Amino acid sequence: MQLILDSKTWAEQVVKSLTLEEKISLLSGADVWRTTPIPRVGIPALKTTDGPVGVRGSTVTDGTTAALTPSAVSLAATFDTDIVEGIGHLLATEVEDKKADVLLAPTVCLHRSPLGGRNFESFSGDDPFLGGKLAAAYIRAIQSHGIATSIKHFVANDQETRRFILNQHIPERALREMHLVPFQIAIREANPWTLMTSYSKINGTYASNNKRLLQGILRDEWGYDGLVISDWFGTNSIVPSLEAGMDLEMPGPARKRGQKLLDAVRLGHLKERTIEKSAKRVLELVYKTGKHNYPHWIEEPEEAINRLEHQEFLRMAAADGIVLLKNTNNLLPLRLESGLQVAFIGPNSRASVAAGGGSANLNPHYRTTPYDSFVENANIFAPGAVTVKHAVGCLSNKWIPLVPENCVSPVNGEHGLLMELFGNTTLSGVAAASSHRKTSMLTCYDNIPKSFGPGKRYSYRATGVITPKTSGNHTFSLGSCGPSRMLVDGVEIISLWGRTKDSERSELFMAYASPEQRFDMRMEAGKPYTLVVEGISREMDPIPVEYFAELYREEVMDGARVGFMEEVQTDLLGDAVQLARESDVVVMVVGKNVEWESEAYDMKSMDLPGEQNKLISEVLKANPNTIIVNQSGSPIAMPWIDQASTVLQAWYQGQELGNAMFDVLTGLVNPNGKLPVTFPKRLEDTPTYHNFPGENDQVFYGEGIWLGYRHYDKAHIEPLFPFGFGLSYTTFEYSNVRVSSPIFSPHRDVTVSVDVTNTGYLYGKESVQFYVSQISKPGLPRPVRELKGFAKVALQPGETKTAQYKLDKHALGYFNEKLKKWVVDENAEFEVFAAANSRDLRGSAIFSIMNGMQWIK
Ligand code: BGC
Repeated sequence: MQLILDSKTWAEQVVKSLTLEEKISLLSGADVWRTTPIPRVGIPALKTTDGPVGVRGSTVTDGTTAALTPSAVSLAATFDTDIVEGIGHLLATEVEDKKADVLLAPTVCLHRSPLGGRNFESFSGDDPFLGGKLAAAYIRAIQSHGIATSIKHFVANDQETRRFILNQHIPERALREMHLVPFQIAIREANPWTLMTSYSKINGTYASNNKRLLQGILRDEWGYDGLVISDWFGTNSIVPSLEAGMDLEMPGPARKRGQKLLDAVRLGHLKERTIEKSAKRVLELVYKTGKHNYPHWIEEPEEAINRLEHQEFLRMAAADGIVLLKNTNNLLPLRLESGLQVAFIGPNSRASVAAGGGSANLNPHYRTTPYDSFVENANIFAPGAVTVKHAVGCLSNKWIPLVPENCVSPVNGEHGLLMELFGNTTLSGVAAASSHRKTSMLTCYDNIPKSFGPGKRYSYRATGVITPKTSGNHTFSLGSCGPSRMLVDGVEIISLWGRTKDSERSELFMAYASPEQRFDMRMEAGKPYTLVVEGISREMDPIPVEYFAELYREEVMDGARVGFMEEVQTDLLGDAVQLARESDVVVMVVGKNVEWESEAYDMKSMDLPGEQNKLISEVLKANPNTIIVNQSGSPIAMPWIDQASTVLQAWYQGQELGNAMFDVLTGLVNPNGKLPVTFPKRLEDTPTYHNFPGENDQVFYGEGIWLGYRHYDKAHIEPLFPFGFGLSYTTFEYSNVRVSSPIFSPHRDVTVSVDVTNTGYLYGKESVQFYVSQISKPGLPRPVRELKGFAKVALQPGETKTAQYKLDKHALGYFNEKLKKWVVDENAEFEVFAAANSRDLRGSAIFSIMNGMQWIK
């Protein structure tokens, strides 16, 4: 028997036994989530699944439930690689539950603007070093289980507006020092087995065709040998993408590859060798995931296992991401004294605002809300002591909510709708498939019969029975990708039947659908109404066979979004103010949600949606003992900040959001999160104010390297809260900042250390940040200082510990575009600061470079 030593040798051998057709088949998926198997030679399919904050499995909507972790921005706020590693191990178990092999995560692109729709999903915040280090911890943990990760989206996927056709003009230095860095660090330190390209064009060429990035930088310079995957439907050519080294077109079946590649080879447009290279990389992944040991592998059904140890870990991880921004009156931590009356107010206070929207969203094993968890936990920790009441205060929904519990399927009486799919455009004949839909987000994607796609049109009908709880003027809504209409008791109330492929779009339904149409109708409490929605999938252009052209065809989801809301017949604001007045303390949970912050579109403003700012002001006036808790993945404007004594930034905390909030509010957990992104006073102060989201599908990265805190520091702009900021219920003193050597040489790294003492009365954790600043004159202008290390220490009152970080050569250089190299200036001198945040420097030490000029690869 032959001994196979490694993935390369194995792939090398297997590829030799394949026909050209088989090799080509490996270069596109088989379906939405799986690669193509070759049973003849025992190559099984690999199953991919989204990421990054849970493992959704193979159904986007209404699939099996999964653990929902805090959003990446919250994990970044922990500044804690141990927590991120723990999340990685937890997710690996969940990937196993979903019988998958590749987790499509982590997301690491920078938060370029506070308006970025996907900011919440990324580990990087303002700083590529932070993102890179955390991503490396995440990848290492997951891959230690034999499960692949897919770092994404390469590169600079920091805007959603027009993402499929956008051209990003990024100066080389900004690319090198900012946008590529999280990928570079993660690849250097953790070697993700796969990498996903972004949708847009980078400097004129689609990321999936970008030879300079994929071959030049990624493979030739960095030596990356993993598999490069397109983002879903983001393969933008037939030949150039493969020649650029974009190995795998996802999803399948093939759109730009398959027969088209076969013809390209036969016509001499493409060398078989090029096909072979990419096919080998797919095979290597089969080997790395251990799947080569299961040549006849049959996929088992997905499982949804809600583990107690995961719940506990997620509660801790979520609490550690919460950032205390203000506590001037020491209102926090709350003491649950007998007779205390607490009011929970705000649109998010009794809702489970657990994640941002888009592919990172999923159906959690369970949901918690701030109010409900507070009540539950207060009963455990201080039984009978406190009274907790709730008032919503105002609405913050962007669209009419999905159909509530009182809409049921006519077949099984369960919450949701009956969905029937027809293999024609006329809703005729017997349905090809029918299923129960738990939500009225009627997605047609990975859940439609195989015979329907790709490019074939079909139709659908959803039926539900709504029994309103109140009598009133209630609102129905509909938005759809293709033509659709809505009927209530047989009467058409909304028609989008005239939609064509060129009709107007909105942000609805991942930005693939029409604007939302609404219809108000007088309805009686307790009376059942039959709701029917009929629709046709949208028409799509054929994909032209142009072997060398950049091809774009959008084709993602189809379906419709159906909403229903009963008329609001109370004075929401008045009731909330009244409750605030009657309470000892108010916890106001405000923020954005899955509709405002999502993949597929950006935000229009930093303002809290709806009447939330007004609500906050009024409640603060009624009761100054108000704690404001904001849930968002990006900075928000806080026009009431001077009025408020107490503010927490709680991000999106996944399934444990309510419990984590209770822990921080009551001091069970001493807050220790720090902002991974600058909170500006106003949008006008931000580095990309003039250059986001661009115009005419062009966006210029005019800010260059001056992104995030680098911009605020250089321009002397006072942020609302600086990068790295976060308070605690205790206090920390820093002393004795020192370096292990005053001279840095290629053979002697410099370790920076600082002693941190807990000078307060409570146990707490502190994220110490190390910023490096070049004090000798640099060859090119450099940021005032840059984060190059961080360390977290946990301290009992009175205890002192040393926080330290080993600085390597990557902490020192900058990219010189003229020389096309990373350089460190001759005899450069540096100051390294130990800091509580980017503006709170607690001491520094100096070191310099030995041996003249150093070049960094
Ligand atoms: C997203 C990716 C995701 C993929 C598969 C795309 O829309 O950009 O991040 O992994 O879909 O769901």
